[in-house]
Amino acid sequence: MDKQSIDIKDLEKQVAAREAVKLIKNNDVVGLGTGSTAFFAIQEIALMVENGLKIKGVPTSEHTAALATSLGIELLPMSEVNVIDITIDGADEFDAHLNLIKGGGGALFREKIVASLTKNEIIIADSGKFVSQLGKFKVPVEVVHLALNYVLGQLSKLGGKGEVRLRNDTPFITDNGNIIVDTDFGLISDPAGLSEKLNQIEGVLAHGLFVNLTSKIIMGKGTDTIIYDGN
Ligand code: A5P
Repeated sequence: MDKQSIDIKDLEKQVAAREAVKLIKNNDVVGLGTGSTAFFAIQEIALMVENGLKIKGVPTSEHTAALATSLGIELLPMSEVNVIDITIDGADEFDAHLNLIKGGGGALFREKIVASLTKNEIIIADSGKFVSQLGKFKVPVEVVHLALNYVLGQLSKLGGKGEVRLRNDTPFITDNGNIIVDTDFGLISDPAGLSEKLNQIEGVLAHGLFVNLTSKIIMGKGTDTIIYDGN
């Protein structure tokens, strides 16, 4: 990837983030996403807080919690929250029906709990994340380590080829102490159906297919934004 395409991606992420934070209102409880796109939103939110906005953040990862704290955003633990007004998070892939694949950064479980508690789930993305059909990005599946072989077998029965995610040649460990199996299902014709089937597998804590959780996607396209709201 050349320098110029990296810069355009970052610009689109930033443009989308700037648009998304306009939806935050005073006294909102705000879910804070994880990843390089959510990073731009968290920076914008920190500026708004500096300028007097009162919000409480709910982080979707330890990394985001540390970042938000360092920028002066007050946090609430997820376990003490009943409703989140708005969440701004990224995605690895999305389609025009607001189905997503998430979890490239390994934060899928907390991201899914936060999304499930959220009234207004806003996804921000650069234009490279849009696909007509999900599945080029492998579906991350968070697995309790002891259940690995069982889960790999069940994924295979569903047509998925799973590989344990590695970092520095050892298994990547999530904030929840589990491993991730990145699973290639090919192009996914029925994300809702596959999501249901993955939910049934014992030993799977969470998977990266997000269906019926998103209110709106704000995609940066050059210096503009394109909105996907399912209509
Ligand atoms: C984190 O686990 C993910 O779900 C991220 O939201 C997703 O991977 C998008 O990351 P980037 O914004 O870095 O592409």
